[in-house]
Amino acid sequence: MTENVLFAMDARRASAALEPTIGLDLVYLDPPYGLGVEMNARSAKGEARGRRQTRSGPAAYADALPVPDLVAMLGEVAQGVVRRMNPGALFCLHMDHRAVHEAKIAMDDVFGRGAFAGEIIWAPGNGARGSGFSFTHQTILLYARTPAERRDVRWRTDHPALREPYAKTSTEMHFRHEDEQGRRYRERTVGGKTYRYYADVGRRLGSVWSDIPAMVANTPLMKEGTGYPTQKPERLLERIVLAGSDEGGTVADLMCGSGTTLVVAARLGRRFVGADASPLAISVTEARLRRAGVAFCYPDTT
Ligand SMILES: C[S@@+](CC[C@H](N)C(=O)[O-])C[C@H]1O[C@@H](n2cnc3c(N)ncnc32)[C@H](O)[C@@H]1O
Repeated sequence: MTENVLFAMDARRASAALEPTIGLDLVYLDPPYGLGVEMNARSAKGEARGRRQTRSGPAAYADALPVPDLVAMLGEVAQGVVRRMNPGALFCLHMDHRAVHEAKIAMDDVFGRGAFAGEIIWAPGNGARGSGFSFTHQTILLYARTPAERRDVRWRTDHPALREPYAKTSTEMHFRHEDEQGRRYRERTVGGKTYRYYADVGRRLGSVWSDIPAMVANTPLMKEGTGYPTQKPERLLERIVLAGSDEGGTVADLMCGSGTTLVVAARLGRRFVGADASPLAISVTEARLRRAGVAFCYPDTT
């Protein structure tokens, strides 16, 4: 198995520097969202994380590009990445309301409009803020490599990670039978064939994910929090990695921030390709990977 690699550089350079033999099975990108501010990390008690303020910790990265420039940069990153994707690979772009619409059009240009496989609405559960309309969700755009591959894109809808419990009323109304082990089930006959469905398997999860709070990644009280701004919860990435790749496959996150995708991919038996342009992101990621006992190397790009 090729080793895990981490590039301390811009995502566009990283995709070009990738060994020609490495193909990508799942790409997740969580870029800046177009806030127009500098984002800071919390590196010590008492420091503030996120948008710059008086108590801010060290600068993590600038989220300063105007939306058209941000989207143009994302288009270039996607152009570099699509050439490295394996057949059936999935590309995920995590955005929020500020630039997701422009980003969708830019991704349609790169992959083809027909390659748009769907989107996940993730509700981080932070509650509404401010007096006006409040955005309480983010959007993850999903693309196949080409329109022809849209139907074959890897997304394991039957994986337990993509299941949620049936509503209590549904369990009580429909799952009226119990087998020898005490498991509740229902049966349906379609075309003369009878299928059995167990309540404890749960129902397939739709496109709105509201069961993974951002809080676990963003508070110093929780053990996965690194203090890096906009760190995503490991459970969110776990679900994406389990649904969108197979064991032994290669997962890429070329804007890896604190390294969430990379630690999760390694834990789940995938190899990874990571990159970030921020020196702080690289040092946080490196420390996180070392703590998790994950081996990786910085490729020689000279
Ligand atoms: C929203 S954060 C990623 C957070 C990450 N998902 C996590 O869980 O920690 C965005 C990251 O994109 C990086 N970034 C921005 N532009 C980049 C570029 N052109 N190439 C590589 N990294 C970039 C920033 O340095 C920052 O770490």
